[in-house]
Amino acid sequence: MRFSKMLTILPIVVASYAFASPLEKRVTVSDIGDIISPTDGSSITPGTPFSFQYADGYGAGCYAGYTSIDVWLVDHEPTGSDLNSTYQFPDGNFLYHFGSYTIINFIGLPPGVNPSPPSTLTLPDPLDAAYDNQEVWFAVTEELSACVV
Ligand SMILES: *[C@@H]1O[C@H](CO)[C@@H](O)[C@H](O)[C@H]1NC(C)=O
Repeated sequence: MRFSKMLTILPIVVASYAFASPLEKRVTVSDIGDIISPTDGSSITPGTPFSFQYADGYGAGCYAGYTSIDVWLVDHEPTGSDLNSTYQFPDGNFLYHFGSYTIINFIGLPPGVNPSPPSTLTLPDPLDAAYDNQEVWFAVTEELSACVV
């Protein structure tokens, strides 16, 4: 019997949820940053790169030299209480982790601990068939480490 692998098309509700975690180790949930791409309601196809653009929020009046972000796919509308003490979705609470990246906010700073966010991301494998035609959430968690200005 021939088995053909199907690609799943995933509708995505893009939640511009960014979670800022200031130095005091409190998690603040707010629409602090801005997910520019993918846009709300767009679809992604496993194995096919989609464009990714995120504008970090800095937080109110806080301009950090570096902003650490993590990019996730989750199957529920995310809230701050979903995150564990290291500000990540715990194992089993996310569908895919696209990676950890460092945004450099000022020209001339040395490289950050993680690579800069790429302009495209790829979901490598189809999700479980249970998610076919289900809306999933694209979430960015943002960590503020220090205010420069
Ligand atoms: C938080 O979740 C991540 C998985 O996303 C895990 O690697 C990390 O160890 C967890 N942190 C703690 C403190 O449990």
